[in-house]
Amino acid sequence: MNREDFPMLESGVIYFDNGATTLKPKSVVAAMNKYYLEHTSNIHRGDYDAAIKTNELYDNVRNIVGEFINCDPTTCIFTSGTTMSLNMVVFGYMKKHLKKGDEVLLNKAEHASNVLPWIKLSEEIGIVVKYVPLDDDYELTFDNIVKSVTEKTKVISLAHISNVVGDVRDIKSIGEFCHKNNILFNVDGAQSIPHIKMDFKNSNIDFLSFSGHKMCGPTGVGVLVGKRELLEEMEPIIFGGGMNSYFEEDNSYELKTVPTKFEAGTTAIAEVIGLGATIKYLMGIGMDKIHEYEILLKNYFLDAVKDIPNLIIYNKNSDSGIIALNIDGVFAQDTSVYLNHYKIAVRAGNHCAKMLKDEIKIKNTVRVSMYFYNNYEDIDKLVEALKNSKDIFKVVL
Ligand code: ALA
Repeated sequence: MNREDFPMLESGVIYFDNGATTLKPKSVVAAMNKYYLEHTSNIHRGDYDAAIKTNELYDNVRNIVGEFINCDPTTCIFTSGTTMSLNMVVFGYMKKHLKKGDEVLLNKAEHASNVLPWIKLSEEIGIVVKYVPLDDDYELTFDNIVKSVTEKTKVISLAHISNVVGDVRDIKSIGEFCHKNNILFNVDGAQSIPHIKMDFKNSNIDFLSFSGHKMCGPTGVGVLVGKRELLEEMEPIIFGGGMNSYFEEDNSYELKTVPTKFEAGTTAIAEVIGLGATIKYLMGIGMDKIHEYEILLKNYFLDAVKDIPNLIIYNKNSDSGIIALNIDGVFAQDTSVYLNHYKIAVRAGNHCAKMLKDEIKIKNTVRVSMYFYNNYEDIDKLVEALKNSKDIFKVVL
């Protein structure tokens, strides 16, 4: 779909590394260029025409986010990306509200950004990090989460869609369960917001993080959305200009209200404007249409490769356009270098989910991650290359 909007595809690249980052449509780059070329100015500081225009565009992106994921726009904080958003939740809110012995439930398929901040917090204040076991398909189920909860569980933190196994977690049921049991629910939406519809208000999520660059938007910008009462209690982890009302010699100071108190310094203005453009672009296509199309592509791929004897697929049953695979006996990175020979871009490695190896029993996989601008011909070319993989060492060595 919409391939003509993506100039990078004209090079002939077959781009299946959408879990890492996505291609950018012309409209997003144009929105950013317009800011740079026609009304460059800082935000919330100037009284001249360019500054007023930039303020309006920047602040309106909160409304666009609000419409996109059904959240209160005034609780939409612009960050540098999912990693920053998750760190803000852990060190700005959880550090203040959790105590020694409180349990946080993660799982071993989580990305480093949703594990390391918790490990660090455990080092600092003694919270206990626990891991919910995955099922036989390496998926995180509602039942396994419920079985892992104890009276000390205070937080459940998970990716809505895992970045390697691609399973879509049942956030609606988990959110309802958390709400009833007084457990905070923190969701990493980096791999889901670009691909499936999100309804923040109706999912009982307490904090939700996502990035612009994985949804056809710019790098360096992301979002943190939270329930208002929690954000009011949350401390900024970065202090500076734009987020304070005053500070004095006697060390007194006052911070501005949510969301401004979390946006210290000059933010990524062009990127926020680009984020607005990309959300409008995705809404124009329709999130349900994007998800349905990715599943069609995935099923087409699975059907086409079912007779390739040496191909191992780890997540046939997951409900997203992410496929984790290996050619039996071949190091994942060799497969990735081999596919590059056919102009096929994939990612190989542990994908920052470094504990998944404990469950999947292999350290590295090749990840094929699809988006709406992939087409059936892309899949045919990938399948053809995988079928010819007996030639792999002729190409790689
Ligand atoms: N988090 C990104 C990925 O999964 C970089 O590839």
